[in-house]
Amino acid sequence: MMKTIFSGIQPSGSVTLGNYIGAMKQFIELQHDYHCYFCVVDQHAITSPQDRLALRHNSRSLAALYLAIGIDPEKATLFIQSEVPAHAQAGWMMQCISYIGELERMTQFKDKSAGREAVSSGLLTYPPLMAADILLYGTDLVPVGEDQKQHIELTRDLAERFNKKYNNIFTIPEIRVPKIGARIMSLAEPTRKMSKSDPNPKSFITILDDPKTIEKKIKSAVTDSEGTIRYDKENRPGISNLLSIYSIFTGETMEELEAKYEEKGYGDFKADLAGVVINELSPIQERYYELMESDELDRILDEGAERANRAAGKMLKKMENAMGLGRKRK
Ligand code: AQP
Repeated sequence: MMKTIFSGIQPSGSVTLGNYIGAMKQFIELQHDYHCYFCVVDQHAITSPQDRLALRHNSRSLAALYLAIGIDPEKATLFIQSEVPAHAQAGWMMQCISYIGELERMTQFKDKSAGREAVSSGLLTYPPLMAADILLYGTDLVPVGEDQKQHIELTRDLAERFNKKYNNIFTIPEIRVPKIGARIMSLAEPTRKMSKSDPNPKSFITILDDPKTIEKKIKSAVTDSEGTIRYDKENRPGISNLLSIYSIFTGETMEELEAKYEEKGYGDFKADLAGVVINELSPIQERYYELMESDELDRILDEGAERANRAAGKMLKKMENAMGLGRKRK
């Protein structure tokens, strides 16, 4: 039987090269061999403050990007989380079997709440909602970047807990992270991951950045004073991060790249890398702008929500039945 994949991305800003390489690029190959559900997780986005109009724009824009990179709506179900109410309903049930202690131990919660005066309870209960997203579809595999590992482990724990306590209804999902590019680093601070909500726009490249901006951002990317093009993730995170991006987009290995730039410095390397990134992103951008103007996008999202509602509704019934929600009819 064909296995099932679920993965979501937050419409919390413009999609970065990190999101693209860590998560989205995997989706394109996987859609041929799996039942795929790809979701714009807008309910996760509101765990941090969002501008109303920007959020709605970003949700539609992210959906267009999924299609522009090559997701085929005939093969995969593409939808917006808040258009499938079962997610919030199942999320509540998963919250009720989660412990505050285990949620407080999540590093994303710690990072995002650090130094903030008012932390929404949604930021704490984000992982049980994410567990619900995944478990509603009987998901076997979750393709994500490395930063999501801890959340997937929690999802597995919650699924096992539910299966034991109530009824054995959930598949225990596996994580899938890409071999290279599972953690693309910030261009400004290469020891931190690249993040779309980073306040410093020089720290990330978005899929929609124009060629001039891409050139500028790569030119100003932090490296080190050694001046050689060598991959050494531990000691030289800046240049290693740039080499990873180069290698992923061209298919050249680190050894090949090191040999190619043996006699050259950062200036030449960065100029070439900018060309490589522009080359990868230009056709995506072209398709994206066409899609944003078309009615096709909304038709695809309506159909996606309908399919997702059908599948998620069935699992929600099983969950409610297992937990005793609703009433028994005469
Ligand atoms: N730097 C990264 N390298 C590789 N993969 C990454 N992902 C995120 N950053 C990197 C992967 O992208 C997918 C979508 O992530 P998300 O939108 O759910 O939220 P996130 O992981 O918190 O990503 P961001 O960009 O850091 O968003 P904000 O700033 O809003 O929190 C996931 O599969 C993630 O692993």
